[in-house]
Amino acid sequence: MKAPVVIWGLGQMGGAFAHALLYAGHPVHPVTRATDPAEVAAAVPEPALCLLAVGENDLADVVPRVPEAWRGRLGLLQNELLPGVYRGLGIEDPTVAVVWFEKKKTVPITPVQSTPIGGPAAALLVSALEGLGVPAHQVQRDALRDELVKKNLYILTANATALSREVAEDVTMEQLLRAHRPLVEGVARDALTIQASLTGEALPDSLLKELYETFLADPHHRARGRSAPARLARALAYADEQGLDVPALRAL
Ligand SMILES: NC(=O)c1ccc[n+]([C@@H]2O[C@H](COP(=O)([O-])OP(=O)(O)OC[C@H]3O[C@@H](n4cnc5c(N)ncnc54)[C@H](OP(=O)(O)O)[C@@H]3O)[C@@H](O)[C@H]2O)c1
Repeated sequence: MKAPVVIWGLGQMGGAFAHALLYAGHPVHPVTRATDPAEVAAAVPEPALCLLAVGENDLADVVPRVPEAWRGRLGLLQNELLPGVYRGLGIEDPTVAVVWFEKKKTVPITPVQSTPIGGPAAALLVSALEGLGVPAHQVQRDALRDELVKKNLYILTANATALSREVAEDVTMEQLLRAHRPLVEGVARDALTIQASLTGEALPDSLLKELYETFLADPHHRARGRSAPARLARALAYADEQGLDVPALRAL
């Protein structure tokens, strides 16, 4: 029998990872809102991983409720993560999946590019995703920050630009880049300013070139996403708090 895994939150991502892990032969123990985590922890005190598959807004509420036995075994997959974010929540050495596939309610898993995964249970998750035909690869822990920055730039730039009044609601990544390039470039620069502030380091402009190439990796991908307004609001709130100059984001 392969090592058991706990998945906390069975939405789109939790469901996709549960599918991959079950297919790979791992018993999967779900924690939903109706579950008592302490009861599951009593039955599964040493899972290979406790993957927190809740959204950005729920993470800070869930982390303090994680049973002691699972604290050193946490996995994360949220957009907007950075090492400073999870260390701020008291999580020191998590397994982190920088998810580059999309899973929506009525749409199967759609990879944009290979998903980098680092941390103690990285090999297990990579192998499970690959078993389902979802490209993934293992990265060292110290590469996670750069991988997270790239994903954060992509998701904020795509989601926020697609909220502009100038842009059609169902715009694809390719249409966004080809028809609204100056808008995309302004928002991407502001997103880079925010990431530089969050990481406390200057970040190279080469990340922007790479970002535009990624837009074309999955050209038909819808740019907006249901979390777009909340993501833009969080970015602007952070910029206000830090006094950052983000004119393109403010003009949206
Ligand atoms: N979906 C994607 O394509 C995708 C891609 C990359 C990254 N991500 C990231 O993955 C994260 C999850 O996204 P998602 O699309 O899977 O969202 P989702 O479908 O809304 O799933 C989140 C799940 O967490 C559950 N949950 C929230 N708080 C909980 C709690 N206290 N206890 C137990 N369960 C709880 C929610 O339950 P309720 O339904 O009851 O609220 C929901 O089932 C987000 O940070 C997102 O940015 C998603």
